[in-house]
Formats: sequence, C-alpha cells, structure tokens
Amino acid sequence: MRKKIEMKVALEVYPPQEWSEEDRVLTEMAKNIMQQAYAPYSDFLVGAALLLENGEKFAANNQENVSFPVGVCAERAVLSYATGNHPESRPVKIIIVAKKRASDRYATVTPCGLCRQTINEYELKFDNAIQVMMLRPDGNLLVAKNIEQLLPFRFNDLNA
Ligand code: THU
Repeated sequence: MRKKIEMKVALEVYPPQEWSEEDRVLTEMAKNIMQQAYAPYSDFLVGAALLLENGEKFAANNQENVSFPVGVCAERAVLSYATGNHPESRPVKIIIVAKKRASDRYATVTPCGLCRQTINEYELKFDNAIQVMMLRPDGNLLVAKNIEQLLPFRFNDLNA
C-alpha cells in the first residue's frame, strides 16, 4: 500500500530590528562584494558573506564563464575559500544578496541546487548547522536555520 512521507520545513522573516550586529556587518559585506561580481552573461550580481565560528568573516561573488556551466556562484566561492583557509573553523551563517545590474532594488534570491548541496556538505563536515539568510527586496532577511529547510530529503549519507 502506498503511504505518504512528509517533511515539514520552515523559513523565518527577520525585519532589520531583529538583526544582530553580525547580520548587519555580513549584509554590508555581501552588498559591497556583490557590486564586483563578474556576471557579463546574466547581469545578475550576487554577493555572499560567511561567518566562521572563530569570528572571521569572508565574502565572495559570482564568477561567470563564456561556457555557462563553468561559472561559480557566490555561495560556493565563499564557502570554498573560507573553509579552504580555515579547515578547523565551522561555518556558522551565510548571508546572500543579489540584484539585476540595471535594477535599483535587490532581487529575491535563494541558493541554487548545487549551492544547497554544497552547504549541506559543510554541515556534514563540521557536524554543525549553517544558517542561510537571504536579503529580500523589502529589506527583510529570509532565514533558514539549516540546510534541511531548503533541501529536504537531501542526499547526505553514502552508507544509508
Ligand atoms: N547565482 C549565484 O551566485 N547565487 C545564487 O544563489 C543564484 C545564482 C549566480 C549564478 C549566475 O552567475 C547568476 O547568478 C545567474 O544565475
């Protein structure tokens, strides 16, 4: 007999009054680095800022390629760089901002599937949740407390 398997996920919306000082700093870092994105093909500029448990903060942007699949998203760029340099320190939260080059308002952005799987990988590696925060056009942050909220039924065990 068929049965249904359901998983409940939830996101929260944080208005600026609810942001921590770190959230503010990371959002500014993401906005700044976003302006330097290399996105000549999509004109979609993305910035991502990452906080490590040791307090260090990193930021990166999307880097495109004439062979489109070769391009790298901002999230994967910052995660690779930060954890490559600090393999001992857990990533705690990542803040993502995006904008169409010609637009004066921020775009609605959530990480692509590859980036979700990458965030999942670092949750596994460090056995620790990574909070994912996405700036919305209305100025609020959309918040996932961990990657499961964005990637339910994810692949995370070779031996299951
Ligand atoms: N992109 C990111 O860098 N992060 C996201 O979360 C969404 C998409 C990039 C990939 C590509 O360079 C451009 O945005 C358009 O998809």
